[in-house]
Amino acid sequence: MGSNHKPLPLFEPVATPSPLPGKSAATTGVVIRPAEVDDVPAMAAIRAAEWETEAYWERRIGNYLCGELGAQHALPGHAVFVAIREEVVIGFIAGHRTRRHSCDGELEWMDVTAAHRRQGIAGKLVVTLAAWFVEQQALRVCIDVKPENTAARALYAKYGARPLNPHWMFWEDIRVATSTSPTAHPADV
Ligand SMILES: CC(C)(COP(=O)(O)OP(=O)(O)OC[C@H]1O[C@@H](n2cnc3c(N)ncnc32)[C@H](O)[C@@H]1OP(=O)(O)O)[C@@H](O)C(=O)NCCC(=O)NCCS
Repeated sequence: MGSNHKPLPLFEPVATPSPLPGKSAATTGVVIRPAEVDDVPAMAAIRAAEWETEAYWERRIGNYLCGELGAQHALPGHAVFVAIREEVVIGFIAGHRTRRHSCDGELEWMDVTAAHRRQGIAGKLVVTLAAWFVEQQALRVCIDVKPENTAARALYAKYGARPLNPHWMFWEDIRVATSTSPTAHPADV
C-alpha cells in the first residue's frame, strides 16, 4: 500500500477521562482517534481473527481509508476511528455516507479484540462515529449484522438501533447514540 495516502483529519484524539468514584474504570487509558495508514496492519489483524486473511483486510481497509470504499450505494465521506490502549490498537470502527436502505450513513466495520471486550470500548467507538455522522447531517444510519451475532445486536440496540430486517439494523436518528453512556462494570470500579 502506498504510504503517501493520509486519512482526512476528522477529530482530535479523545482521551477518556479519569472515572468518577463509583463509575467504570474499564476504559481508563483508552484513547479514541482517527485511524492512520500505519494502523492498517493492526486493524487487519483484528478483523482477520474473525474472517479472511490479514492480507485481504490490509487491502480492503487500506483502500477504504483512502476513500475507495467498495461498498454498495456508498457516497463520498467516510471515517475510521481506532481505540488505543498503551499504544496498541485494540479496536476500530468505520462508516461512510450512503444511499443504502434509504439511509444517510452505514456503519461498515466494528471490532474489538477478544481480550478487551465487555469493557465499554465498542460503546465509545459507536458514540464517536455517531458524532461524526451527526456532523455530516447523516442521521439515518444502517448496519449489516448477522441474525446470530447476539453480541453486536445487543451493542447496537443499547445505543438505540432497531431491527430493519433479519440482516440489518438501523438508527432512525443516530443522535440518540451520542447521548447513551457505557454501563459501569462492577468488576472495574
Ligand atoms: C460486538 C463487539 C464489537 C462488542 O465489543 P465490546 O467492546 O465488547 O462491547 P461493549 O463492552 O462496548 O458492550 C456494549 C454493550 O454491547 C452489548 N454486548 C457486548 N458484548 C456482548 C455479549 N457478548 N453478549 C451480550 N451483549 C453484549 C451489551 O449490551 C453491552 O453493554 P453492557 O456491558 O452494559 O451489558 C465485539 O464483541 C466484537 O468485536 N465482536 C466480533 C466482531 C463483530 O461481531 N463485529 C460486529 C459486526 S456487525
